[in-house]
Amino acid sequence: MLVLGIDTSCDETAAAVVRDGLTVLSNVVSSQVPLHRRFGGVVPEIACRAHTENVTRVVEQALADAGAGFADLAGVAVTNRPGLIGALLVGVSAAKAIAIARGLPLVAVNHVEAHVFAAVLAGGEFPLPAVALVVSGGHTTLFLVRGPGDLTELGRTQDDAAGEAFDKAAAILGLGYPGGPAIDRAARAGNPRAVPFKRPYLAPESLDFSFSGLKTALLYHVRGQDSRGAAGGPRAGVDVADAAASFQETVVDVLVRKTLLAAERAAVRHVVLGGGVAANSRLRERMAEEAAARGLSITLPPRALCTDNAAMVAAVGARRLAAGARDDLSLDAHSRMA
Ligand code: KG4
Ligand code: ZN
Repeated sequence: MLVLGIDTSCDETAAAVVRDGLTVLSNVVSSQVPLHRRFGGVVPEIACRAHTENVTRVVEQALADAGAGFADLAGVAVTNRPGLIGALLVGVSAAKAIAIARGLPLVAVNHVEAHVFAAVLAGGEFPLPAVALVVSGGHTTLFLVRGPGDLTELGRTQDDAAGEAFDKAAAILGLGYPGGPAIDRAARAGNPRAVPFKRPYLAPESLDFSFSGLKTALLYHVRGQDSRGAAGGPRAGVDVADAAASFQETVVDVLVRKTLLAAERAAVRHVVLGGGVAANSRLRERMAEEAAARGLSITLPPRALCTDNAAMVAAVGARRLAAGARDDLSLDAHSRMA
């Protein structure tokens, strides 16, 4: 069963073909990073315009790479939430057009759920129930996962998402955009204990997150106590690699501790990671080590399946289609989770 997945929720125009919800036949991601770089973040209007220009080509490329045509498809899966509303609408409209023109079943997919199940495309089905940490530019959320469509939120960020914090930290450090990969790289040459940032654990038992205070602490460390706003670079004497490594270690400490606490509390033996920040080398290393130390198994999707892609959308779509789910042409896009 071949399913075409489409995702235009943020700044990547993505289409993919997946067989039986498990095997990636093609995975095309057209990045808009160069278009947004000079603004230091994703500009919604630019994103939807670029999606409009790219979506047809990206879908055709995904089919060509898979050696498939529309006639081979069992259905079309599309992200309809959460994300930038104008951006989502482009993918939803493209999916509807394909579905009506080719008489194919249409099914909507939640982008965050897709990040959770991206892992199946590399390692096959993971043990359930599991605790999933979705860490991306827009989300930092812990879920108890019992199966597709059965996710219970255990905790979430109260302010910035982890990826957003990485992006802002990189801007403060003058490391460029997108910030996560830049900090990951810079941190390799730094000492993670050089700057003793306070770990934002919130209440001792809380499964919620908060990263905006850490971002301010980094700003003060880099530019001095009286600094305000985003202008300027690091002051003399600040070691950028040390600051990047210390910032990253702080975020990782919090993500690891709360994920393992969630697993312990839910009496779950398996942990799954998803979202762009799950591509972070230090997070992967520490989460794997500490999960193993507690006797938990862990699924870490390969980096290309952590960041936004449509293969994960096709994977969830295939499961929804197999369960009989169908959406019709009244399908709408929604900016919020649900
Ligand atoms: O999942 P994603 O591609 O898009 C959203 O749904 O948001 O995540 C993008 C986020 C960005 O904030 C980016 O800086 C971050 O993931 N990211 C990383 C790494 N690679 C991407 N953060 C830390 N370390 C990385 N290696
Ligand atoms: Zn995402």
